[in-house]
Amino acid sequence: MLQLHDNGLTLSLPNADAAYFNYYWLRDNCPSSWDTDTQERSFDILAEADHLKPLEISDDADHLYLTWPSGHQSTYRKDWLSQWHTPNNDNAIGHGDIAIRARRSWYADHYEQIARFSFDDLITRPIKVADWIEALLDEGIALITDMPDSDEGLQQACELIGTVRPSFSGYAFNVRTEVKPVNLAYTARALELHTDLPPEELAPGVQFLHCRANDAKGGQSLFVDATSVANEFREHYPDYFQLLTDTKVPFRYTTDTQDVRARQRIIELDPVNGEVSGISFSQHLSDIFDMPQTFMDEFYPAFRKFGQMLQDPKYLMRFRLNAGECIVFDNHRIAHGRSSFIEGSGARYLRGCYIDRGEMRSTYRALRKEYPTVTDTQEE
Ligand code: OGA
Ligand code: ZN
Repeated sequence: MLQLHDNGLTLSLPNADAAYFNYYWLRDNCPSSWDTDTQERSFDILAEADHLKPLEISDDADHLYLTWPSGHQSTYRKDWLSQWHTPNNDNAIGHGDIAIRARRSWYADHYEQIARFSFDDLITRPIKVADWIEALLDEGIALITDMPDSDEGLQQACELIGTVRPSFSGYAFNVRTEVKPVNLAYTARALELHTDLPPEELAPGVQFLHCRANDAKGGQSLFVDATSVANEFREHYPDYFQLLTDTKVPFRYTTDTQDVRARQRIIELDPVNGEVSGISFSQHLSDIFDMPQTFMDEFYPAFRKFGQMLQDPKYLMRFRLNAGECIVFDNHRIAHGRSSFIEGSGARYLRGCYIDRGEMRSTYRALRKEYPTVTDTQEE
């Protein structure tokens, strides 16, 4: 079948009897539209005349051929068109995306099973970097062992995945007690479960916390898979869940020279599949809520219930981070905190920085293409 309409055509494809394609889309995506050096589109659809329609059209078993009013000829593979066919008005499969993977929930007992990678392995074996990112995509957390005791070591680890991403705390931040702290983290007090920096317009995606010293009494690390919590919250309190996914609440961070503000949804949904993808949660960086006071009657019960569930010991993984270890986690999916420690009882020094999740997925796609998993190839 090959039928021309006003704005597009219908043809038979291996996976569809009557697949519709718009003419502008077809012209825009002629294989010749891409520059072979830059791999970017060099064709300009805006410069085409209105009411674009091919003059000639034909096909064979594997191809569709079009001739445009300009004389330009386009050839499309039918198996390629199949990938971009959009039945039932769904989005196309398109390129496919190996970086979209099912999240694996974990609970309080996860510490022994955390994926672990030695720094030297990661530096020397790209397949290990792909495995490491895979753990971050699936479980949201992984541990690097045998880190060098240097700022450069942390930067090197980050740069295996992406570029270090600055935040309102700079290119990296040092968590240790300070005489005049600008931030609760720089005291010996407990840090309740939180995600970092929701006052930023786009909070950092992946956090690295490199432990350089931890001899203090107390100061245990706390981690929670917030998607496990949010999924159960969704099941038991659907109305509360809806409220926390709909409402944008204000966050704020101030120092003498900064006043950073943004609104975030407390529970975030993955736009691709509607799964819970993360949370924005920080009581110490929550601004004064400014929603209508009558709305607070509904909001606070939902907010409190979710925050209380987050603290439920069933979800809480608690362990001591040791010098030479770097914990890496999805800052949207994993809530983290620490117990208080006794000031003066020993050195405690963590250095942290961030990279973005988009860059992590990009590195994963590129690396996996070159270094397939063992099950893909049956060998390493
Ligand atoms: C922070 C933080 C954890 C720790 O600085 O935001 O979460 O163990 N620190 O000190
Ligand atoms: Zn933090």
